Amino acid sequence: MSTKDDLTIRIGGEGGEGIISSGDILTQAATRSGLNVLTFKTFPAEIKGGYAMYQLRLSGEKIISTGDGFNVFVAFNEEAYKVNKSKLTEGTVFLYDGGGAGGFEPEELPGVTSYAIPMSKIAKEDLGTYRSKNMVALGAIAHLFSISFKNLEEIVTSKFKRKGDEVVEINIKALQAGKSYVEKELKKTDTLKVASLEEKEDIIVIDGNAAIGLGALLAGCDFFSCYPITPATEVANWLSNFLPKVKGTLIQAEDEIASLGNVLGAAYAGAKAMTATSGPGLSLMSELLGMACMAEIPCVIVNVQRGGPSTGLPTKHEQSDLFLAAHGSHGDASRIVLSCDNVEDCISLTIEAFNLAEKYQTPVILLSDGSLGMRKEGIKRPDLSKVKTVERLKHDSSSNGDEPFMRYKITDNWISPMSIPGMEGAAYVATGIEHGETGAPKYTPDNHELMGKKRFEKIKNVEDDLPESKRIGDEQADIGLIAWGSTQGDVTEAVNRARAEGLKVAALFPKLVYPVPIKAIEKFNKTVKKIMVPEINYQGQFADLIQAATGIPVIKYNIYGGFPFTPKEIHNKIKETI
Ligand code: COA
Repeated sequence: MSTKDDLTIRIGGEGGEGIISSGDILTQAATRSGLNVLTFKTFPAEIKGGYAMYQLRLSGEKIISTGDGFNVFVAFNEEAYKVNKSKLTEGTVFLYDGGGAGGFEPEELPGVTSYAIPMSKIAKEDLGTYRSKNMVALGAIAHLFSISFKNLEEIVTSKFKRKGDEVVEINIKALQAGKSYVEKELKKTDTLKVASLEEKEDIIVIDGNAAIGLGALLAGCDFFSCYPITPATEVANWLSNFLPKVKGTLIQAEDEIASLGNVLGAAYAGAKAMTATSGPGLSLMSELLGMACMAEIPCVIVNVQRGGPSTGLPTKHEQSDLFLAAHGSHGDASRIVLSCDNVEDCISLTIEAFNLAEKYQTPVILLSDGSLGMRKEGIKRPDLSKVKTVERLKHDSSSNGDEPFMRYKITDNWISPMSIPGMEGAAYVATGIEHGETGAPKYTPDNHELMGKKRFEKIKNVEDDLPESKRIGDEQADIGLIAWGSTQGDVTEAVNRARAEGLKVAALFPKLVYPVPIKAIEKFNKTVKKIMVPEINYQGQFADLIQAATGIPVIKYNIYGGFPFTPKEIHNKIKETI
């Protein structure tokens, strides 16, 4: 094993300099060696310019969060250096673009091991293309920290293949130039390197957005429509490659309203249908979300949250669409809201979202977020034999007799058989207007009360459909944290640290966030002295929903600066609160 089994490398530079590609390539190369990887990236909303950053945490062990900071920082330019200077503390390693031709010279950094690598100079003067500066850096990083150079070459070849042989060739040369600069000109004085592993697991590298696409395919999704929006577009990009292969249909609509309209039409016609968007898109979908509820049409709406309100922070992280997901739309519009914790969850919870939508004939909103959607993780290859799918309750035409088809028939569990257009004797009109059991308009007070109740009662016990919420920590604790979404990893790491110091701490991670999983929270409350809800929004949205649904007072802990929590922040808050 290495001197450091948990290494975090951060690469910073200007958007357009190939920071994201560098991080992706390193991630792939490290995963191919069997290392566990978890990434975080952030970049400006502009296509070119501004500070972009990619961070990879590499370990021989399973990683659950991006961690507190970095061990190695690679600066492609002076701006990136300035942004990260305060974090270049004792023991960190700093690689920077030095040596003229666009490079810079940082000041003396006490306790930091600094390596000047003339990335721009080598790229421009030796290779004749500034574009390959990032590959010079990668060659140097790989050699310094023992990341397989062979893997790196293979990944670079497959990454740039679509750009032509010349691009591949120059980038391989750039990798080699970076490596040989380190070999000839630098003496490694730090002790950091990635873990060396004896056994490799069968893992795939995938980001949260692609994992949602994969989950949709496994659930049997055969129709997808969306309007592109950061940071959700990659769900569509992934599905555009794979949905046609299973004879599915993908439509890029003119806006988010049309996207959900397409989805409702397809689902009404029998398809398993999904759309994916981010906050502003979900706002636009609110009206049709109500229609999906009223017409009882199964559908999945993915919302990869970003900073809001309005256009807000398109490329930054926030968990502030929970109120909208739970309550958006006029009238009493019921729906189910689930939230993904990690990349593996993006696969399994998407399948769950389809299954619940089909079972309850209702819209299901699946919440992810910018950090999770763009996070790459090496995960175990999913076991397809374990995938279970649910189909909606279909009308049986042979059972009609002389009775008219009752699309919204009141049944014991409030779920009514649904017909597919073309079924004999089972035509009905699905609209947003209140209706009686046949689907014909009906506005009597009794009927509206009955149908309103039907739409809520059918999902009342949805908590029982999902596996019990994961709970970690002490059986009896001084403080219990309830976390939703990608905050789970940071909370887990913080709870582990606090317990290692002897504090009594527990945490609960519900995947169902609306209707609030009352049973799980009440059970958890009996085992902890107080509850704290850390979340990345100003209002404390989940905290408010929990208090409203259970009456249990909770302590809010909120940050909302566009970045996820670090375990350290949560650990400190636990100590302070206890
Ligand atoms: N040789 C050849 N091509 C290279 C290369 C190399 N050595 N290194 C990178 N590239 C290419 C990449 O393949 C990519 O090309 P592609 O677009 O054809 O895939 C391109 O250069 C950009 O590089 P990449 O590494 O992907 O990104 P970056 O780190 O330079 O950052 C972004 C650019 C991602 C920040 C920027 O383009 C972007 O998309 N900004 C966000 C826009 C947004 O979503 N706004 C919100 C709207 S509401």
